[in-house]
Amino acid sequence: MDDSIIPGFSKYSKQWRIDALIQKYNLDAGLGAWLSTFEVSDLKIQKIIDDLSENQVSNFHLPFSIAPNFVVNGRNMFFPLVSEESSVVAALANAAGYWARRGGFYAEVLGTEKKGQVHFQWKGKAEKLHLLFPQIKERLLEQSAYLMTKMVERGGGVSSLELKEMKHILPDYFQLDIGFQTCDVMGANFINSCLEQFAKSLQEYFRTSERTDGEEKDCKIIMAILSNYTPDSRVRAWMECPVTDLLEGQSEEENSRFAIAFEQAIRISQFDISRAVTHNKGIFNGIDALALATGNDFRAIEACGHAFATRKGSYSGLTDVEITDGTFRFSIELAMAVGVVGGVTSVHPLAKLAMQILGNPTASGLMMYMATAGLASNFAAVKALVSVGIQQGHMKMHLNNILTQLNIPKERYPEIQRYFQDKTISYSAVEQYWKTHQDD
Ligand code: MEV
Repeated sequence: MDDSIIPGFSKYSKQWRIDALIQKYNLDAGLGAWLSTFEVSDLKIQKIIDDLSENQVSNFHLPFSIAPNFVVNGRNMFFPLVSEESSVVAALANAAGYWARRGGFYAEVLGTEKKGQVHFQWKGKAEKLHLLFPQIKERLLEQSAYLMTKMVERGGGVSSLELKEMKHILPDYFQLDIGFQTCDVMGANFINSCLEQFAKSLQEYFRTSERTDGEEKDCKIIMAILSNYTPDSRVRAWMECPVTDLLEGQSEEENSRFAIAFEQAIRISQFDISRAVTHNKGIFNGIDALALATGNDFRAIEACGHAFATRKGSYSGLTDVEITDGTFRFSIELAMAVGVVGGVTSVHPLAKLAMQILGNPTASGLMMYMATAGLASNFAAVKALVSVGIQQGHMKMHLNNILTQLNIPKERYPEIQRYFQDKTISYSAVEQYWKTHQDD
C-alpha cells in the first residue's frame, strides 16, 4: 500500500481520485466504470450531488420510501423517508395506518428560538461587566444590524441577549448567550456570522470604551459558535384512543393488559439509561429518516434530542404515556431545530420532492412532522416489544434482504417465508434451503 501523504486531494479530478484509490488499495482497474454505474445519467443532477460534498468518487444510494396514511392534525399525508434500516419504513407505515383508524396524530410547536454563544475571558469584576452590559448590548446590536436586515424583514433576528458568568468552568470566563429567530431557514450561517460580529464588537468595546481601564481593556475571545442545543425550539406530538380500542378484535381484558405493559415499558425508559438509549434510538429511526429525506442535518437533530432527554437531571426516554379514565394517551416532547429553505433542502432534487410531498411546510410544520415520525416509530417498537417481540418483524425484513442477496425469484418468496415462519433465520440457513429446493 502506498502510504505517501497526498496534499490537496480535493483539488484533483474525480478520475484522479479514483485512480489514487485503485493504486492505494491495489483494486481492479475497472473500479471507475463500476463506480460510475451508481451515478445518475442526468449530468445536471449529478453535478448537484457532486457539489454537496468534497472528494466525491461516486454516489451512495439509500432507498427513498413512502409511508402512507399519516393523519396529522386532521390532514392525511404521505411521509417521505430515507433509511438504511429495513424495518424502519415498515414500522412507520404500520403505526401510521393503525393511528389513522383511531383519529391520527396531533402536534404543536411550543417555541422556535435558536441559540448561540460568544465565549470570552475578561479580567475585570463581574459586577462592573453587568453595569456595562446594557451599553455593550446596544453596541453589539447596532454593529450587527447590517447582517440582520433580511432576517428582520422576514420576521426574525435576535430574540434575547444575556450575559452569563461562567467562572466555575474557567478563570475570568463569561458567555454571551444569544437567542435567534430564523423563520424558515436553519440559519446556521446567519447565526455564526452574527456571533462572530458580536465577538469583534465586544473586543472593540472593551478596547475603546472610556469606562474601561488597564487590563479591563483586554478581552480574549475563546470562540463564537451556534449551539445545537435549542431547548426553546420545542415541539410536542401525541395521539389518543380509548384503551378498549387498542387491540382490534380483542377482549377488554387483553386491551387493558396491553395498555399496562406499554405503560411499564415507557416507565422503564424514563428511569433506566440502558433502556432509554435504545428507546430513543428507535424514536430517531423515524425522525432521522424524515430528516434525511428532507435534506436536514440529522446529526444536529439527534444531538439536540439526546441532550433534551437529560433535561430532568438524568437521561430519559423522550415519550410519555398517560392512561386516565379509560383513555390511552401517548406523547413526545422534543427540542429540535430544522430548516425548510436553503441548504440541501433547496438543492437536492429528492429533498425538494420530499418537501413537496409534505405540502412544502414551514419550519414549524416540519418540526411537527418530525415529532410525529418519532412518536410513530416509538409506538411501533414498544407495541411489538410488549406483545410479539421485535424479532418477528425484523426477521421478516431480514429474510427479504437475504432472498434479494441470493437472487431468489420474487414468486418463490411466499413459500420460503412460510418455511421460515417458525425457524431461525440466517444467511446460511436460507442458502441451504435454496440449494435443496431450488428445483422444486
Ligand atoms: C431498532 O432499530 C430500534 C428498537 O430497538 C427500538 C426500541 O427498542 O424501542 C426496536
